[in-house]
Amino acid sequence: MSGIEGKVVAITGASSGIGEATARLLAQRGARVLLGARRIGRLNALANEIVEAGGSARYQALDVTRRASMQCFIDEATEAFGRVDVIVNNAGLKVDEWDRMLDVNVRGVLHGIAAGLPRMRAQGCGQFVYCASRFAVHAISERLRQEAGGDIRVTVISPGLTESPTAIARAIAFAIEQPEDVDASEIIARPTASPH
Ligand SMILES: NC(=O)c1ccc[n+]([C@@H]2O[C@H](COP(=O)([O-])OP(=O)(O)OC[C@H]3O[C@@H](n4cnc5c(N)ncnc54)[C@H](OP(=O)(O)O)[C@@H]3O)[C@@H](O)[C@H]2O)c1
Repeated sequence: MSGIEGKVVAITGASSGIGEATARLLAQRGARVLLGARRIGRLNALANEIVEAGGSARYQALDVTRRASMQCFIDEATEAFGRVDVIVNNAGLKVDEWDRMLDVNVRGVLHGIAAGLPRMRAQGCGQFVYCASRFAVHAISERLRQEAGGDIRVTVISPGLTESPTAIARAIAFAIEQPEDVDASEIIARPTASPH
C-alpha cells in the first residue's frame, strides 16, 4: 500500500504535542489512526474530533514502559483495523525529566519493536517512525533496519528544538507517503520559533 490513505497508523504519545498534531494530520489525509498515551481523556477528545471531521480513529490507554501494554496497543490496532502499517514511536519525555527518560524514550521504543515487528513480518510490510533526538534511538533504529529485512521501513525524525508540532507532523507524513521502495531513513527538522 502506497501513500497515506487507508493506512493503519498506531501513534504513541498521541495525547499532546507532536503525537497529537501527527494524528490530526494523518487522519485528515485518510489514515486510520490508533491513539495511545496515558491521559485517555485527551485521547477520547481527539478521537471524537477526528471522527466528527469524517476521519477514522480509535484510542487505547498505553504506557510504553510496560511491554504488555504495548502489546495490547498493537493487538488493538489489528483487531480494530485488521492490520498495522506504521508505528509512530513518539512517546517521550523531555530532557529535564531525565530520571524517567530512559525508561520511556528507550525501553518504550524496544517494546514497540517487540510488539510490532512480528505483525509487520506476517504482513510482509510495515514502517517504524521514531520521533527522537536520543542517540540510543538512532542506534536501535539502524540495527532494526539491518535486521528487519527489506520489506520494513525505518525512519528517524529528529525534531530539533521545535515549537511547531505541526511541522514535525508534516515530516512524519512525508516519510509515510513515500513509495514503498523509498526509505526516508532520517529527517532533521530545523529549529523554529514559530508555532505553525
Ligand atoms: N518538541 C521538541 O522540541 C522535541 C525535541 C527533541 C525531541 N522531541 C521528542 O519528540 C517526542 C514528542 O515530544 P513533544 O514535544 O510532543 O512532547 P509532549 O507534548 O510532552 O508529548 C509527549 C507525549 O508522550 C506521552 N508519554 C509520555 N510518557 C508516556 C508513557 N510512559 N507511555 C505512553 N505515552 C507517554 C505523553 O502522553 P501521556 O502523558 O498522556 O502519557 C505525550 O502524549 C518526544 O519523544 C520528545 O522527546 C521533541
